[in-house]
Amino acid sequence: MTAPRHYLQFKDFSREDYAHVFARARWIKDKFKRYEPYHPLFDRTLVMIFEKASTRTRLSFEAGMHQLGGSAIYLNTRDSQLGRGEPVEDAAQVISRMSDIVMIRTFEQEIIERFAANSRVPVINGLTNEYHPCQILADIFTFIEHRGSIQGKTVAWVGDSNNMCNTWLQAAEVLDFKVHVSTPPGYEVEPERAGLHGTGHFAEFADPIEACRGADLVTTDVWTSMGFEAENEARMKAFADWCVDAEMMAAAKPEVLFMHCLPAHRGEEVTAEVIDGPQSVVWDEAENRLHVQKALMEYLVLGKVED
Ligand code: CP
Ligand code: NVA
Repeated sequence: MTAPRHYLQFKDFSREDYAHVFARARWIKDKFKRYEPYHPLFDRTLVMIFEKASTRTRLSFEAGMHQLGGSAIYLNTRDSQLGRGEPVEDAAQVISRMSDIVMIRTFEQEIIERFAANSRVPVINGLTNEYHPCQILADIFTFIEHRGSIQGKTVAWVGDSNNMCNTWLQAAEVLDFKVHVSTPPGYEVEPERAGLHGTGHFAEFADPIEACRGADLVTTDVWTSMGFEAENEARMKAFADWCVDAEMMAAAKPEVLFMHCLPAHRGEEVTAEVIDGPQSVVWDEAENRLHVQKALMEYLVLGKVED
């Protein structure tokens, strides 16, 4: 049996892989919008394992698998043996003998890597403490839909150097664009944790307005990610000046877009004026999770399908 291909972090795919997946996402989305059935994964089963809460990720994977002709099974740690100490390696052996593809949302990246090492089928990262590659896949697809290729463009990241930020930084190295990061002191990017090769695709700015200057895209995320709730009070104080507002957006290019993976907290990491304003494409981003993940599942299960 040949080892399956996994999608555990953004750099697991090459620029050529992304060109294919984005083209398939475009084709699959257009077909879906015309109400034309497309069932390449007929009779296939997706298992989704959630150790953290989710609205978009569960919905987009579950609906996406049904739309591709297969079925999806939801497991969480509260009412499965996963929360009662069964080794992740054993769970991977069992789950991957009964399914065709697995999606996991969990805590440390190491957990998903151990699962994948013992899985007979492809494993997709649906968010870990370190990375959120499916979201950046959707975000870059959304950028391309609105503005064309992201190569050579500048993305401003304002806020926490979390799983979203790390994944943007990896994407910049793979797809050749720049990320300007501004975090409060003490919350800076850790290049090793982000899994970077140090190719000079990111720069750090103490002042978030300077990070946004000339940017093609401004993006942010919650100040406190899932799993870090104990730090919430300290973070609310530390991040107070890292709220994306109209002044930051005005420093960027006139045609700048605003993105947020959601869920958002208006008045914390972004003002209502910005997230609900004309530069915001957050609803397209959320919808595109569905289309890009359908293309991703098709690619991982069937390989390179052409029209
Ligand atoms: N953006 C995102 O992954 O949303 P959920 O937490 O709702 O899945
Ligand atoms: N950084 C956030 C993203 C949620 C989709 C978190 O990990 O909670």
